[in-house]
Amino acid sequence: MAAPVAIPNHIRGLPLAWRILLTVVVTLLGFGYASALLNVLGQNELVDGQPGLTIEDLRLKYAGAYVTREAGKAPPSRMLEMIRGSMRQYFSDDSEFDILYAWLQDGASAAALTAGEEPTPADVLLVNCLGCHADDAGHEIADTASFGPSQFELPEHQRLAQFVTVAAPDATEVWVAPRDWRGLALTTHAHLLSVPVFVVLLAGLFLWSRPLPADNASTGWLAALPLLLFLLDVACWWLARLPGVGVAFLYVLMASGALFAAAFLGQWAFVLWSLWRRPAM
Ligand code: HEC
Repeated sequence: MAAPVAIPNHIRGLPLAWRILLTVVVTLLGFGYASALLNVLGQNELVDGQPGLTIEDLRLKYAGAYVTREAGKAPPSRMLEMIRGSMRQYFSDDSEFDILYAWLQDGASAAALTAGEEPTPADVLLVNCLGCHADDAGHEIADTASFGPSQFELPEHQRLAQFVTVAAPDATEVWVAPRDWRGLALTTHAHLLSVPVFVVLLAGLFLWSRPLPADNASTGWLAALPLLLFLLDVACWWLARLPGVGVAFLYVLMASGALFAAAFLGQWAFVLWSLWRRPAM
């Protein structure tokens, strides 16, 4: 019978092959987190129409806000953000982009959607967008962002309404709604079921690196800290929607995000160091 394999009580005691494997895994987690941060920047910086991630982007996305209308400028909306970003490529030419932009700028009304010279804003959407954003397009995005029942019919204003900022022609201020709760529910579920997996993996390795001399409750709290901050962060996405008080949670959101980064990267560095440090004499 083979001798039972002894599990070392410190990560440093693992055989060399295991330490190499874990080093690669932990390094990958670090790159994964860095790319997640880049994604946060890319997904959110244009919410207010300006490059750079600020509290204004978060306010519009999570809490909603009144914004002053400026002449010649479309008010912030999800549609505007997307057509200036990753959807820009789907316009067959600039004049079609201008038609949609002008519609958003003028308040995105149902009447103006199909009015005026052809192509109307509805035609532009039909030709350039419904190939993916229609119920029968067979594209995954149509499950959450469909503009109409068919690729061959004009889009419906009622469905577009959740992606645009609708304003009366003479309104000087417009309410920019926070992101639709369905989209937020989707992101919440995707995050809650995936982020804990790698955070717990790192936290487990962190415990195994014996950060404190005694194995006590403080070690447990230290290990669980990134997870708790992550939970707080996600809770703030929803709490920010509370009328009146919601905006305060945006500051909690930013603080918990920053503390998460510090705690996660702290564990990350400690684990890598522990894997390779010389054993104590
Ligand atoms: C080739 C398929 C495709 C075409 C064509 C396309 N989109 Fe998209 N659209 C997507 C995908 C995929 C996403 C999700 C990507 C993301 O969120 O970054 C998306 C996301 C969006 C969103 C955000 C939806 C949400 O849930 O928040 C809007 C608004 C949008 N597109 C508008 C447009 C407009 C306007 C056009 C036409 C100019 C267009 N799209 C053309 C595939 C497409």
